[in-house]
Amino acid sequence: MLAVVPPPVTVRVPAKVNLHLAVGNLRADGYHDMVTVFQALSLHDDVTVAIADDPGIEVLGEGADSVPTGPSNLAWKAVRALAEHVGRDPEEPKVRVVIRKNIPVAGGMAGGSADAAAALVGLASLWRLEIGRDELALLARKIGADVPFALYGGTALGTDRGDQIVPVLARHPFHWVIAFDKGGLSTPEVFTELDRLRADGNPPRVGAAEAVLEGLSSGDPRQLALLLGNDLQAAAVSLRPNLRRTLRAGVNAGALAGMVSGSGPTCAFLCSDADSAVRVAAELAGAGVCRTVRVAQGPMPGARVIATEEAP
Ligand code: C5P
Repeated sequence: MLAVVPPPVTVRVPAKVNLHLAVGNLRADGYHDMVTVFQALSLHDDVTVAIADDPGIEVLGEGADSVPTGPSNLAWKAVRALAEHVGRDPEEPKVRVVIRKNIPVAGGMAGGSADAAAALVGLASLWRLEIGRDELALLARKIGADVPFALYGGTALGTDRGDQIVPVLARHPFHWVIAFDKGGLSTPEVFTELDRLRADGNPPRVGAAEAVLEGLSSGDPRQLALLLGNDLQAAAVSLRPNLRRTLRAGVNAGALAGMVSGSGPTCAFLCSDADSAVRVAAELAGAGVCRTVRVAQGPMPGARVIATEEAP
């Protein structure tokens, strides 16, 4: 009898921006305590998982050349973690993963983490697992601190390592312009640079997250713009001084506020509405301060199945 091979599953997963990112002390496990407010944006990767005799990862699109396709790829770590969790052989997962990237690589928008979250959701569907998002989130935390948020999407408060997620009600759409820098930044290096800056002096720290949560619920981008803050920004700018020019250019182009996204070097600009975002994006693209400019909207849903191709 012929075994029925389930059709490939494609999952769409959003990039994130941190509206608020407060970094605490370095812990014994190498991580920092963190309080952050995430928002998922309409900039996404698509990840297809399929049963295959030639297991592995293929990466296409934005920055594909610099994404590892071996065991260090976070999506592959997700495949192995879920296989082990459900009693399959993690060494022989017989799964092929194709990642179509739009999220900048090593850009501070959690693209690699997003791909891992997408792989978890895709495999849960491909393998027809009875497994909820909260159970997947427990696995996701072991893969990386930003992976759980990519499962939930929307707007959320993240605590502990940024990986304990509580959804935040934020019904109003916000309009963003995203500026990709010419290269990437290593997240651990940015955290280390922040520790160095703090040892040398007293770089400003963001306040409490409550004000940002209030700004979000008001739905007023002008109010929210005054409250955005990221402790990692000083460190990212210290490693990439050109980001100062990018941040200035976005605000000069009409954005309400600009900030480094996560550990950078991508910059995110909050705009008053969709039309303003298009105008800011055009002007920023012309300023020659960054590699690529995109408009995006948030909040968007987390990793979700968008297609299951029927086998011929
Ligand atoms: O978990 P993930 O692999 O995404 O984290 C990358 C690195 O970022 C960690 O190894 C750590 O150096 C740094 N990090 C941190 N504190 C956090 C999150 C990340 O120091 N809360």
